[in-house]
Amino acid sequence: MSNLATERVLSVHHWNENLFSFRTTRDRGLRFENGQFVMIGLETESRPLIRAYSIASPNYEEHLEFFSIKVPDGPLTSRLQHLQPGDPIVVSRKPTGTLVLRDLRPGRNLYLLSTGTGLAPFMSVIQDPETYERFEKVVLLHGVRWTSELAYSDFIEKTLPDNEFIGDAVREQLVYYPTVTREAFRNTGRITEVIPSGKLFADTGLPQIDPALDRAMICGSPAMLDDCSKMLDNLGFEISPRTGETGDYVIERAFVEK
Ligand code: A2P
Repeated sequence: MSNLATERVLSVHHWNENLFSFRTTRDRGLRFENGQFVMIGLETESRPLIRAYSIASPNYEEHLEFFSIKVPDGPLTSRLQHLQPGDPIVVSRKPTGTLVLRDLRPGRNLYLLSTGTGLAPFMSVIQDPETYERFEKVVLLHGVRWTSELAYSDFIEKTLPDNEFIGDAVREQLVYYPTVTREAFRNTGRITEVIPSGKLFADTGLPQIDPALDRAMICGSPAMLDDCSKMLDNLGFEISPRTGETGDYVIERAFVEK
């Protein structure tokens, strides 16, 4: 059996000129853990052009959702951005990834640190009921340059709290902290600034982050992963060394270039 299944695009949403998301059909046999990624892509004349994409939808949905940047001359995204409903798309049958709840030690509050399209796996994690069973507060930081890049903010702030199944947990436990670095917004500054400075805690009323109690997941560019890991290391957090071994935090290294 081929490692790749052919799915169909169900819908496409363009957030701004640089960012879009799309839904596809899902093979009934595809099982994944919230936070994981799959390889997806397009058939070309020679061989399929595929890249790692986090699944942004939770694992109980019938469809799959992906969130992507548009790189003007990126081999895959320059084509993906023109997807239309009904188009075929290949999806690997082997989800994998390190941003999984089971690799975190038990704890008090869970910090989800993301920039740009690094938000995608956390869209899945914040829709997982287990996240709210395991942690008291789930603190989602999304750092972007411009407010137009705050994809999913209406969904997080307006739609999810009304969700039939997890709305109660979302209202009581989810703290969403979007932060913008290159124009005025209610929260400004990089993640690596708002945590060490204490601004995040002053703004939200959350207690100071504490490695003895709190846990974290990080997803963003390679430089962001490095800097956020260093920040947590300096605070005394221990990284999960590899899949299957627990730590105070986990990072995703799969997304380098699209
Ligand atoms: P800044 O505007 O100060 O560069 P990008 O689009 O480059 O991935 O950036 C997305 C967001 O992540 C921006 O707010 C950017 O801030 C921030 N950022 C970029 N690099 C880092 C880093 N190494 N650590 C933390 N935040 C970062």
